[in-house]
Amino acid sequence: MSQSAHFLGKDLIGLEQLEAEQIRAILDTAEPFKEISERAIKKVPVLRGKTIVNLFFEASTRTRISFEFAEKRLSADTVNIASTGSSVQKGETLVDTARNLEAMRIDMVVIRHGSSGAARFLAERIPSNVINAGDGRHEHPTQGLLDILTIRDHRGDLNGQRICIVGDVLHSRVARSNIWGLTKLGAEVAVCAPRTLLPRDIQDLGVTVFGRIEEAIEWADVLNVLRLQLERMQAGFVPSLREYNRFFGVTSERVENAPRDLLILHPGPMNRGVEIDSDVADGPHSVILDQVTNGVAIRMAVLYLLAGGMPEKAESAKHGE
Ligand code: CP
Repeated sequence: MSQSAHFLGKDLIGLEQLEAEQIRAILDTAEPFKEISERAIKKVPVLRGKTIVNLFFEASTRTRISFEFAEKRLSADTVNIASTGSSVQKGETLVDTARNLEAMRIDMVVIRHGSSGAARFLAERIPSNVINAGDGRHEHPTQGLLDILTIRDHRGDLNGQRICIVGDVLHSRVARSNIWGLTKLGAEVAVCAPRTLLPRDIQDLGVTVFGRIEEAIEWADVLNVLRLQLERMQAGFVPSLREYNRFFGVTSERVENAPRDLLILHPGPMNRGVEIDSDVADGPHSVILDQVTNGVAIRMAVLYLLAGGMPEKAESAKHGE
């Protein structure tokens, strides 16, 4: 693959920086890569010889494992580093950690970090490609892309689709990536949450705001239900989890009484019985596990494009050509 023809540039920090054409190209590139994960031998030589470091400073199940599967299925060599068990625990800085990894001749870094801006900070200081796997409240671009791919799989063209993001928008990097990506593709986007869980500037992002779940469900074709990020909350954002479920929970009664056939997404991990009831999460409207499956293909597409691959060559790349 050519290193000069970088379709996405050097890094993927957020969907805010991407053009609609680039977002569509990532989705289209993911399509042929989906099939690799269905094979008995799930491996193609697309990233053979590349070394990728997965640097996770916050907990993760889906994103970390999905990146690792994507890297291995494209034949990259991978190393996983968590803050626990590394010299970060002794006080080593992010940049020193990354520079030491660079000294071992790596090619890409996938980073999850609790601070908004950490991925960009790193990308500006090291020559390797940097992929943001979630930074504070800022963005989680591959989650946004896999959500959009899942909606497109089930509903077709995003243009004119009405997608409501329900829940803890204030603490959510997933919400921001969804808003940037979906609006660029022509979808109508709304948010629904108690005022205490909405950023003050949310309307500047071009979204409609609903304060009542009933209004949101009346309006929407798709609900993307967010986790209440209890670990980022001091007391006082919601009176109680029970009350939150009563006023904002996505319950089977609300979904079944909706005027349209709702598609239900959730990025995970879920607080069952808080923001979403189990019978909705596991029910016929839910595409939550499709999101997880699509996550591997999206991450393969991003890795391939950042390594210099071209969207129109993805079909032949999947056949090892
Ligand atoms: N959706 C998501 O980012 O999940 P993890 O925190 O498990 O990676």
